[in-house]
Amino acid sequence: MKKLYFGTNLKMYKNIADTVAYLQKLVENTKDISREDIELFVIPSYTSLQSATEKVDRNYVKLGAQNMCWEEQGQFTGEISPLMLGELGLDLVMIGHSERRHVFGETDFEENKKVICALEHGFTALLCVGETEEEKEFGLSDEVLRTQLKVGFHNVTPEMAKKAWVAYEPVWAIGVNGKPASVEYAEEKHQVIKKCLVELFGEEVGLSIPVLYGGSVNPGNANQLIVQPSVDGLFTGRSAWQADAFNTLIRDAMASAAAAGKK
Ligand code: PGA
Repeated sequence: MKKLYFGTNLKMYKNIADTVAYLQKLVENTKDISREDIELFVIPSYTSLQSATEKVDRNYVKLGAQNMCWEEQGQFTGEISPLMLGELGLDLVMIGHSERRHVFGETDFEENKKVICALEHGFTALLCVGETEEEKEFGLSDEVLRTQLKVGFHNVTPEMAKKAWVAYEPVWAIGVNGKPASVEYAEEKHQVIKKCLVELFGEEVGLSIPVLYGGSVNPGNANQLIVQPSVDGLFTGRSAWQADAFNTLIRDAMASAAAAGKK
């Protein structure tokens, strides 16, 4: 079976103790699932990262940071350097989450600097893309996604892109007020993304980059989403923040993918 990707961003929730307890339980619950079949990752708050790296069995879960500065050091008050994240031995860095773009005003050009910096420092770079409701209403979704990818991955070589992942998260689908995308819509946009990745990096590397769907993933839609041919994984917020619930969602999704003969 094709490897499926399951991850969650804990946003500004869970303190150190809660994060460690959550991760330990998630590892315990999912230990029997072969990591040949799934890639499991969690992106906690910065303050929880050190304890998480020390107290959680990293053979079962990859750990990432929610953001990163594109410079190694300097006058960047409040920012976290790739060297600092490297000291923790993190696996991945998330770049351009919708809340970074829309609450904190990050641009595609800044995301590009972060993507390049993350890849040059050996992290997996998880670039998040997605159109707003207004852009969707104006029929601009495909253009927006292509722009976010073309700028976000500007000057990234196919060799570097082997460590890139993409999350498609339509802004209107994220969070408590979000409406999940229909499975048909998600599949259509994943195809747009994959086509663009092939244009940027060639067929072999472009198609090897996992594209995850995120935005109100829940037990009611996860199984239909994961069987879509261009959906390589699920990037889940709220529905993943209890270890038991996330474990169930992962197992159900894997069973659906297997039943659909997903290759
Ligand atoms: P949600 O969050 O699943 O709670 O909508 C998704 C995200 O922000 O990554």
